[in-house]
Amino acid sequence: MPEEVLESQPEIVTPRDGATPIIQVENLHKTYDLGEVQVHALRGISLDILPGEFVAIMGASGSGKSTFMNLVGCLDRPTRGRYFLEGQDVSTFAKRELARIRNRKIGFVFQGFNLLPRTSAVENVELPLIYCGVSHEERVKRAREALRIVGLAGREDHHPSQLSGGQQQRVAIARALINNPSLVLADEPTGNLDSRTSVEIMEIFQRLSKERTLTILLVTHEPDIARFANRVVLFRDGKVRRDEPVEDRAEAAEVLKTLPAIDEDEEEES
Ligand SMILES: Nc1ncnc2c1ncn2[C@@H]1O[C@H](COP(=O)(O)OP(=O)(O)OP(=O)(O)O)[C@@H](O)[C@H]1O
Ligand SMILES: [Mg+2]
Repeated sequence: MPEEVLESQPEIVTPRDGATPIIQVENLHKTYDLGEVQVHALRGISLDILPGEFVAIMGASGSGKSTFMNLVGCLDRPTRGRYFLEGQDVSTFAKRELARIRNRKIGFVFQGFNLLPRTSAVENVELPLIYCGVSHEERVKRAREALRIVGLAGREDHHPSQLSGGQQQRVAIARALINNPSLVLADEPTGNLDSRTSVEIMEIFQRLSKERTLTILLVTHEPDIARFANRVVLFRDGKVRRDEPVEDRAEAAEVLKTLPAIDEDEEEES
């Protein structure tokens, strides 16, 4: 068989060490071409991530963390290298195919929550389903269930302005979960939150990765947040500098018991 044909064949990756990685990136490069200058944001990233892993991505500003998340999230395509998502080589996909994969498999959580302002929590959460042709009744049912999972039962009709920052981020997590994704990507989700609220968000992520084998990639600048993950990958200058399991992993549910509670209801009444 000619080599060309052979190369176009492997759609499904052979499992390594028994488990099939959900994410497999090989020598991933991303160069932003700004005309005069070229920015080498990623310079050869190779990583395998298994289903249910909770990975914290750390590194200095400009080290390529968000660029990497954009590629893994099928929001952008690599300049070079390959990316297999659940065994499928998505690095060759056109924009439309990427959008389809993204809607089906990936949930996103951002630092700034990105909720629609004059829209209730339940409507914000059901939004991704509108484009999937799911009936109104089913959408509301699933959105309510997602809000329950993140601890927001009873707040379905609140607008973002009527919720605390932590509650808004939980709405955003519920929205990320609504399509039942296999992968959640969170770029500095606790960047705008106080420390107790940040731990509450980590409790949700730990629970989801454990109970639902949801794979989570979380970018953070805070070592205290990274210790809730199973594994820390450190980026430097567009390369993986370190990749290690978290030895003394913190249990967010346990840490919360040691932190003073914030009475959110009281805050809202004033
Ligand atoms: N759309 C773009 N066009 C041109 N250059 C970009 C673009 N996005 C990122 N870059 C550059 O690529 C490099 C990596 O940026 P990236 O946003 O991935 O860093 P980061 O690790 O997420 O940083 P931070 O911690 O500040 O969010 C930086 O030098 C940045 O200026
Ligand atoms: Mg970034």
